[in-house]
Amino acid sequence: MIVKYHGHSCVQLTDGEHSVIIDPFLTGNPSAVAEPGDVKVQYVLLTHAHGDHVADAEAIARANDATIIATYELATYYSWKGLRTIGLNIGGGTDIGFARVKLVQAFHSSGMIVEEGKILYMGMPGGFVVEWNDATLFHAGDTGLFGDMKMFGEQYDIDLAFLPIGDLLTMGPSDALIAAEWLKAKRVVPIHYNTFPGIRQDPEKFAKELKKRDIKGIALPPGETYELKS
Ligand code: NI
Ligand code: MN
Repeated sequence: MIVKYHGHSCVQLTDGEHSVIIDPFLTGNPSAVAEPGDVKVQYVLLTHAHGDHVADAEAIARANDATIIATYELATYYSWKGLRTIGLNIGGGTDIGFARVKLVQAFHSSGMIVEEGKILYMGMPGGFVVEWNDATLFHAGDTGLFGDMKMFGEQYDIDLAFLPIGDLLTMGPSDALIAAEWLKAKRVVPIHYNTFPGIRQDPEKFAKELKKRDIKGIALPPGETYELKS
């Protein structure tokens, strides 16, 4: 499987035949290299309703006739726009033929700012466990550290985890290191950093700290790919 990092929390998973994008934020993302029109996928996964996670969801889903998989309220919102959706709630998953996608809890918020003075609350935010062929991937979404990450570590054999390290709005690096240990992740790709001034972090330093804990840290510059061999 090829893992492509598009910057911020946006990652794309591809096996040659199928492709899935998580939290598409290319338009308005100063770190992004790709354009929404470059993205060819069958599914668009959304962890929560914040603009830095859903910015290009509608455009990419429409252009590809792709299905949006999101938290229940957010999926309903996109279904009203005529898009094909699968709404999940915490603990629920769905089989998409080539993979299984499960929504798990995240500690964050999920309000969509529609206009000044109007926020649409979209229920709980989440993260995704994606089981694809022999690989198990975890995308934490936006979250703080929480104890059930230990449970995920017991429940799943996580080959690769995408963990936010930006601080300010999510875990910072020190909590993300604890998360990586609790999850028993074999590899960690840091996300949600360096997009904006408030979330500046050093991903190489984070990767070095992971190495001390016998976890492979993969700091990918936006636009770069990593081949996951499980
Ligand atoms: Ni957020
Ligand atoms: Mn965010």
